[in-house]
Amino acid sequence: MIIGSVRMFHEKVSSTNTLASLMVRDENPVEGTVILSSFQDDGRGQKGNGWESEPGKNLLMSIILYPVMVRPDEQFLISQMVSLSVVDLVSGEMPDARIKWPNDIYVRDDKIAGILIENSIMGETLCSCVAGIGLNVNQKVFRSSAPNPVSMALATGREHDLATVTDKLLRLLDERYLMVTEGKAKELADNYHSALYRRGEWRRYSDADGEFTGMIEEVRSNGLMVLRRRNGSVKEYAFKEIDYIL
Ligand code: BTN
Repeated sequence: MIIGSVRMFHEKVSSTNTLASLMVRDENPVEGTVILSSFQDDGRGQKGNGWESEPGKNLLMSIILYPVMVRPDEQFLISQMVSLSVVDLVSGEMPDARIKWPNDIYVRDDKIAGILIENSIMGETLCSCVAGIGLNVNQKVFRSSAPNPVSMALATGREHDLATVTDKLLRLLDERYLMVTEGKAKELADNYHSALYRRGEWRRYSDADGEFTGMIEEVRSNGLMVLRRRNGSVKEYAFKEIDYIL
C-alpha cells in the first residue's frame, strides 16, 4: 500500500493541504503520507473559495504523492484518479454519484465532495502533488454560501462511521494510484467518462457570451471539456471558463 501507509491525524489545522505542502517543502515525507484532520479553520477550495466543514463530522484529508512518471501535460490523470476513487466510494452507498468536471463529486444535482489538487512541476515531470479531499459525511446543516451542498447522511438518511469511510477511501485511492503508476491512462479516462455528470445530456450552461444549451461530449486528456451546441458547433473549455446552470 502506498497511499495511507503513513497517516497523521491533527485535531485542528488551518488546512490539511497547506500543512501537507509545508511538509513537502521542509520534511521530505514518504510518498502516500496522508494528513487527516477533524477541523480546518482555513479550509481551501477551488477558485479561491473556502471549504465549510463542521468539527468532527466530515472527512478532511490531503495526500502527498510524487508522480514522477506523469508529464505536466498529463497532470489531469491525478485529478481523474482522485475523483474516481471518491465517486467509487460514494457509489457504494448511492447509485446516483457522478463526477462533475473537473473533479467535484455530485449526488444527483448536489455536491457531496470537493477536491483540491496542487501540483509542483519540475522540468518534464510532476515532482510532487498534494491532493486534498473534503467529503461531507455526517454534516446535516450547511451555513456557507455554497449553492448545493449535501452529505452522505443527508443523502442516505443515516450516519456513517468516519473511520470506516476513511479506510475504504484510502484503499480505493491506492488502487487507482496503481493504475496511474502502471500507465493505465486509457482505462482511467474511460472510467472517468462513464462517471461524468451530465455527459450526453442537453443542459443549460453559461460562458463569457451568455447562457446556452449544450451537451458535454468528452473531457480531453489535458483536462479541457468539449461541449456541443444545438447548432452543431463544438467548443473546448478550461476550468473557470464555463458555469453549469442548475
Ligand atoms: C472545492 O472547492 O470543491 C475543493 C474543496 C477541497 C476541500 C479539501 S478539505 C481537505 C483539503 N484541505 C483543504 O484546505 N482543502 C481540501
